[in-house]
Amino acid sequence: MKLNIAVLGGDGIGPEVIAQAVKCLQAVEENFGHDFTFTNGLIGAAAIEKTGSPIPEETVALCKNSDATLFGAIGTPEYDNDPMAKVRPEDGLLYLRKELDLFTNIRPIKAFPALIKNSPLKRNIITGTDLVIYRELVSGMYFGEKSLSEDGTIATDLCRYTENEISRVAHMAFKAAKKRKGKLTLVDKAHALETSRLWRKVVTNIAESYPEVEFTCMYLDHASMSILLEPSSFDVILASNMIGDILSAQCNVLIGSAGLLPSASIGAENAMFEPIHGSYPQAKDKNIANPVAAIFSAALLLEHFGLQEEFNAIVSAVHKSFMKKIVTIDIMGSTKYGTSSVGDFIARNIVDADDNLNINDENIGLGKSTII
Ligand code: IPM
Ligand code: MN
Repeated sequence: MKLNIAVLGGDGIGPEVIAQAVKCLQAVEENFGHDFTFTNGLIGAAAIEKTGSPIPEETVALCKNSDATLFGAIGTPEYDNDPMAKVRPEDGLLYLRKELDLFTNIRPIKAFPALIKNSPLKRNIITGTDLVIYRELVSGMYFGEKSLSEDGTIATDLCRYTENEISRVAHMAFKAAKKRKGKLTLVDKAHALETSRLWRKVVTNIAESYPEVEFTCMYLDHASMSILLEPSSFDVILASNMIGDILSAQCNVLIGSAGLLPSASIGAENAMFEPIHGSYPQAKDKNIANPVAAIFSAALLLEHFGLQEEFNAIVSAVHKSFMKKIVTIDIMGSTKYGTSSVGDFIARNIVDADDNLNINDENIGLGKSTII
């Protein structure tokens, strides 16, 4: 298959983890005889520095003209600590999501048997966790009208949803539930918010066309507790933009590290794949960031284009890295492996699943290749 892939490393650890994802896609390309082209684009603080804009028009055009976008992370402490900043790196990502109309954000959360001991939850609670969050991504409080009074003391963010915005993501979620365990939970604040009541009405109507899916509604308060107490009772969770963001961040750490979970953002014409973790600026350029979330995001990209065998090859190679403890420091404090050597191992195992990779201990360390 021929695929043009836009690569936006972004800020913090974004570029280094995305480099490992590209390495794995190149391994897939070589092994399965595909033709992938990678084109880099600027976004975030890196783009502000070079062009003044967090999302130059060339980047938007690049993504629109590509088959898919692979995105790293966004945000730097300078902007985080300046609430009055005129432009923010994050604006670049939000603008891109809106421009590409990526209305469904899919965040799968699955416990890995080899990493259960890393979870902050007890083994019996985390075992069997396999859920996916369908988050609305281009509307709600993130994109409603904003205001700040002249004296800077009153601010608003309008939370606005239309029936159509709700139903298009809801259909995606129900279709997924049908193929999975047949359960869908809408998480909302319908006891307090008008928009949540509209979500309940619209989604309850849609549920009638999916009789094979067991549909329930749950308040966010209850859901945020249940996810910690009984994560394996969930299958598909459907939520608005803001609620989906918070719930997925909570799930992100359940499975053992914030560096493991990928996401897919899908629209009618565009698709973007990105790890859930943020830019983790403290780890930037230290070769310690976990590349697995980015590598899984690349796997989701392949799955999106129907390349199931290729998806499986990446997932198995990652599992093997867990089994062999070729992992970054967030997974195992005493590890000798850095971002690039974990990426090397996974890429090598995509090409040859039996490759045990001769690791050259002397070369293990920051930024060095570990393959003999
Ligand atoms: C995410 C991120 C973004 C969001 C930020 C960087 C704007 O947290 O993708 O989850 O809130 O959507
Ligand atoms: Mn988030």
